[in-house]
Amino acid sequence: MKIAEAIEQRRSIRKFRPDPVPEATIMKILETAAQAPSAMNTQPWQFAVLTGETLERAKGMNIEKLRAKEQPEPEHTVMGWPPDSIFRRRQIDLAKQIFQAMKIEREDRSGRARWLERGFRYFDAPAVIIILVDKVLSESSPLLDCGAVMQNICLAALAYDLGTCIEDQGLKYPRALREIARIPDSKRIVIAIAIGYPDETFPANDIETAREPLESITTWAR
Ligand SMILES: Cc1cc2nc3c(=O)[nH]c(=O)nc-3n(C[C@H](O)[C@H](O)[C@H](O)COP(=O)(O)O)c2cc1C
Repeated sequence: MKIAEAIEQRRSIRKFRPDPVPEATIMKILETAAQAPSAMNTQPWQFAVLTGETLERAKGMNIEKLRAKEQPEPEHTVMGWPPDSIFRRRQIDLAKQIFQAMKIEREDRSGRARWLERGFRYFDAPAVIIILVDKVLSESSPLLDCGAVMQNICLAALAYDLGTCIEDQGLKYPRALREIARIPDSKRIVIAIAIGYPDETFPANDIETAREPLESITTWAR
């Protein structure tokens, strides 16, 4: 697959077949992904891979805390846009697209709650890769590097017919997750990537999200 094709084909997968992903495949993906550039080759990323019983415990913990309405304490905040901004508009458009595909009506509160829980269960993926950075680094400096490795993971996964969903939903309760996955206190939990074989029958897996026309996001200074 050509690089541009892979970039264009990648999309978020929010339901997976239960088949496990071989550990050797995940290792190959991470090996490829870690070829990402980083500032001064600092390579700030580390990976915690959750599978099997550990992953099931993490899913259970997330759901329990979500249902108990425990205050989320993410170590890296993804959300934070003004309510009347274009960014909020795009977020709403995505939600509408997902709920339409899944036939979840606006008033269907339990349907929406069930959808939310799917995210906290890592969309039932058989494996989850969590990107960590050492806390000796500043909060913002490693993020560009981590973004590169994150995208590389999603693209490399395609070569093995695997799908991915980058997600912060599963990282809302890092203290409990840290204990379950034995992530040391010295590491910041940045982002998760659910990974597995896509369930081709799941409507939300077919969603093609829009992108702004290039003219409205690009300026040239000639
Ligand atoms: C930093 C980051 C965090 C994300 N968190 C979530 C999440 O918690 N739940 C979710 O369903 N999707 C999440 N996504 C996926 C985005 O919604 C998705 O990338 C976006 O809508 C574009 O769609 P596409 O990935 O299909 O191209 C996240 C993506 C990024 C880059």
